[in-house]
Amino acid sequence: MNQPTRFEAAAQYTDASGFIDVKKLIEAYPFEDHVRRADEYFRTIDDPWVHHFRKPYHEIHDTAATLSGFAAVLKLGKFKPGHVIVDFGCGAGWLSAALSMMRCKPIGLDISEGGLDMARRFVNEHPLLSTQDIRFEAIRKEKSVPLDDASVDRVICFDSFHHVSDQAAYLNEFHRVLAPGGLAIFHEPGPRHSRTDQSQLEMREFAVIENDIFIEDIWADAQKAGFVGIEMAVFNEIPLTVDLKGFNRGIKGLLAPWTYYKLGLQLMRQMNDKRVFVLRKAGPLDGSSRFADQLGGRLEVVERSFEPEKRILTATLNLANQGRGHWLPSGAGFGAVNLGLNASGPDGAKAYADAIHLPVASEETTAGESRRVTVKAEIPWQLGPVFNVEIQLVSEHVAWFGEPVQILISPEG
Ligand SMILES: C[S@@+](CC[C@H](N)C(=O)[O-])C[C@H]1O[C@@H](n2cnc3c(N)ncnc32)[C@H](O)[C@@H]1O
Repeated sequence: MNQPTRFEAAAQYTDASGFIDVKKLIEAYPFEDHVRRADEYFRTIDDPWVHHFRKPYHEIHDTAATLSGFAAVLKLGKFKPGHVIVDFGCGAGWLSAALSMMRCKPIGLDISEGGLDMARRFVNEHPLLSTQDIRFEAIRKEKSVPLDDASVDRVICFDSFHHVSDQAAYLNEFHRVLAPGGLAIFHEPGPRHSRTDQSQLEMREFAVIENDIFIEDIWADAQKAGFVGIEMAVFNEIPLTVDLKGFNRGIKGLLAPWTYYKLGLQLMRQMNDKRVFVLRKAGPLDGSSRFADQLGGRLEVVERSFEPEKRILTATLNLANQGRGHWLPSGAGFGAVNLGLNASGPDGAKAYADAIHLPVASEETTAGESRRVTVKAEIPWQLGPVFNVEIQLVSEHVAWFGEPVQILISPEG
């Protein structure tokens, strides 16, 4: 059967007065049509440096709104260095770029290969971004996210969730790919979005989905998907200004009632047409070294010396937390991260029946953080002048992790 022409399809979702019903528009086109149109849009852009690569500084009048929205997302998202973050509907990739600058590991996803090509170009041509840990991947199948179960710490939808055809299906997917305790953060328009003049124009001209965001429906679907918490952001995008006298009264807690009123009005206006919120998956908020699947680390020996008379080995190591959770301090008991050290002679005999455990730090080491640590160990004389020392990271009572490093000691040095 032939696909309906664009004109025939438009007749299904446009009433006699020209009003477009977004629900009918969604039904009128298959996923592939939306992919093609999103792609066409990005492919018609001649020079992305004129607009797209400047985001969020692309237009003076939009920049404040984008940045204040981003600030709200940062507050809700409780991001940490090393977090793996899905930037869902990433477009030309500004948000992924910003997250990578904050030492997170963004994965930009989009249905448009054109948008993704642009995002990759943005990153590759940027001297700093090109060295960061950023990935871009295409969504090729409707209602699916091309990532493994429990593989990410956060999902962000920045002005993208109102474009999907099936919100409930994507909430299921977000829940699936989030690790326990993970968060999905949304920066979206409000419940009347599809009716605004701008949305009607976009749908009429380009047949893009400009759906409404009904928080109650989303929360009901999110709970069915397994999310256990929701929090809404109330924030004021535009600062109010007062005169100096008013300001000085304000810091004493005596803001003029008129200022409170204006502030309230502004908040209300913003709450009408914006929905910035976070959904929480059950589990500890952030992984820690108590969980084996959150562990990852790199060790590198930067200096070592051996005092033969006292039989003291001193080694300085660079340690990097490459896992998804923070390392608990060395004295924290279960899940505390230490260095496990053992030494062995040429015949393979071990110096200690159980490795000795040496402290890494008395504070937490967040995901993505690096530390330089110096350890000392007394090597039993029975081992003789030639021996090998092996050092590895250990999360106490949980697991050994990271590739072990070796230090060979012999009289020759
Ligand atoms: C308004 S743009 C926002 C882009 C980006 N988040 C930003 O802030 O610049 C919406 C993006 O969502 C993408 N998109 C539309 N439908 C999508 C879907 N079903 N799944 C994933 N991305 C989609 C579009 O290709 C586009 O890049």
